[in-house]
Amino acid sequence: MTTVATPNSTLVAEVARRRTFAIISHPDAGKTTLTEKLLLYAGAIELAGAVRGRKSERAVVSDWMDIERERGISVTSAAVEFDIGEHHLTLLDTPGHKDFSEDTYRTLFAVDGVVMVIDAAKGIETQTRKLFEVCKLRRLPVLTFINKLDQPSRDPFDLLDEIERVLGIHAVPMNWPIGSGDRFRGVFDLENAIVHFYERKGRAQEAPVQVSSAHDPRLAALLGQEPWQHLIDETSLVSGAGTSFDHQAYLDFKHTPVFFGSALSNFGLEPFLKALTDLAPPPRARLSDQGMIPPESPHFSGFVFKIQANMNRRHRDRVAFLRVCSGVFEKDMVITNARQGAEIRASRPYRFFGGNRETIERAYPGDVVGLVNPGQFGIGDTLYHGFALKYPAIPRFPAEHFGIARLRDVRFKQFDDGIRQLEEEGLMQVLYPTVGRREPILGTVGPLQLEVLKARLENEYNVVCDVDSLPYKAARWVVGPSDKIAAISASTAGTRSASDREGRPMILFESEWALEYCERNNPGVQLLAVMP
Ligand code: G4P
Repeated sequence: MTTVATPNSTLVAEVARRRTFAIISHPDAGKTTLTEKLLLYAGAIELAGAVRGRKSERAVVSDWMDIERERGISVTSAAVEFDIGEHHLTLLDTPGHKDFSEDTYRTLFAVDGVVMVIDAAKGIETQTRKLFEVCKLRRLPVLTFINKLDQPSRDPFDLLDEIERVLGIHAVPMNWPIGSGDRFRGVFDLENAIVHFYERKGRAQEAPVQVSSAHDPRLAALLGQEPWQHLIDETSLVSGAGTSFDHQAYLDFKHTPVFFGSALSNFGLEPFLKALTDLAPPPRARLSDQGMIPPESPHFSGFVFKIQANMNRRHRDRVAFLRVCSGVFEKDMVITNARQGAEIRASRPYRFFGGNRETIERAYPGDVVGLVNPGQFGIGDTLYHGFALKYPAIPRFPAEHFGIARLRDVRFKQFDDGIRQLEEEGLMQVLYPTVGRREPILGTVGPLQLEVLKARLENEYNVVCDVDSLPYKAARWVVGPSDKIAAISASTAGTRSASDREGRPMILFESEWALEYCERNNPGVQLLAVMP
């Protein structure tokens, strides 16, 4: 079949207009609202409320199952693509619940930039901080949206200072709030000296006003003497601080441009979207075992960052989500999975949106392609055509919660299929005890996931099982001479020996203390949290 027939200039132009990003925030800061408003603005959806998620996404299992049931109409289907002007944007979903942070972590490997939403009354919260750390690790440029300006907010200097102090990045305001809460009047665009007025319900719409600077006396009439003076004082302090926005510094993770606004009331979204298309980076070169691979390379390459089982009950299939990194991906292309060297014809590449899946003919760097996955792909697999290479593995979080799954009926095959497929999705790690019955031990990053696994096995695979929690706190692969490995569990209290699906030896530990003790007393073996 065809390989890369597209002229290189098309590829270069397609790369240049792409923006692939994720929105990170602490639950409740307004990520879902902002997503919805961006999609509404872009015309990608027609109705407010079409984007699901909100609280149910991060609440209890039953709510989560509802989400599963209606996953078809949710942006939780990994990625949404939409156009704004000349630009083609792909927004990757990052689940809000802390138990699913590993999923989010993987997603952040597949984007080129990030939008960070902060609640103006709360500032930096724990989940924001954690997610920001991942962005830092990956040097992902971050645009900041300080949300809910329509409500009483913290002092803007305070918020900027907190970003700098807690996150360690220069926060450069792009606009400045005029008043707060009940007296919030709008924002002043610092670069272009334009006042954007906030419209409260029932008030006539006021057009943005271009002035010469914050000192322009026309502002006295427009804002009132006191708010005007306040604006002058504050903007003088901002310019006195001397940090003006530097695009390269943003791309280098040294600056984050900060926009104040309110997603719910559609305020400040237009300039923010403009920044997203103008400032956020297009796909960049990625490191592989063959060196840096530019997106404009003539050879297709990409990697799988997410696998989702049972996307659609009617289809009952598993979808591997591929992020295209270089070249052009084409339908029916023969691609190689770098992990096993296996060749696969990509005969059913999809784009997902809402409940629909649509076959695509081609995709460019930055795009996300869903491949129906009859078990050939795992998370982190590199796929390529024409030029063999491998992207670095996506690190896994070590499991911290364990439970043993006990089948309550005799549907062994369905049970095994379910466990294998959900493991492939990266929902949990599966270990088999070396001694005793070979009932699988499930290891997860968060406690809620064990409940979710049980519910999904029942719901999607029709098997009823109990998941009894186990007292272990950590699991490690053990590498070293087999006699030494065998001696460990015999000699260390609070441990149990096991193996993974491939039969590689592992040890479970009941406490951090047992793990440290074992490390100290067994210098001849290595205990690995991540299998290289
Ligand atoms: P999340 O995805 O980050 O968790 O937050 P989400 O968008 O669900 O927003 C959390 C709550 O904050 C929602 O209210 C939402 O309406 C509100 N919100 C978002 N943006 C703004 C804003 O600019 N101003 C104000 N005042 N509120 C905002 P909720 O009542 O908790 O949920 P819902 O009933 O609206 O879904």
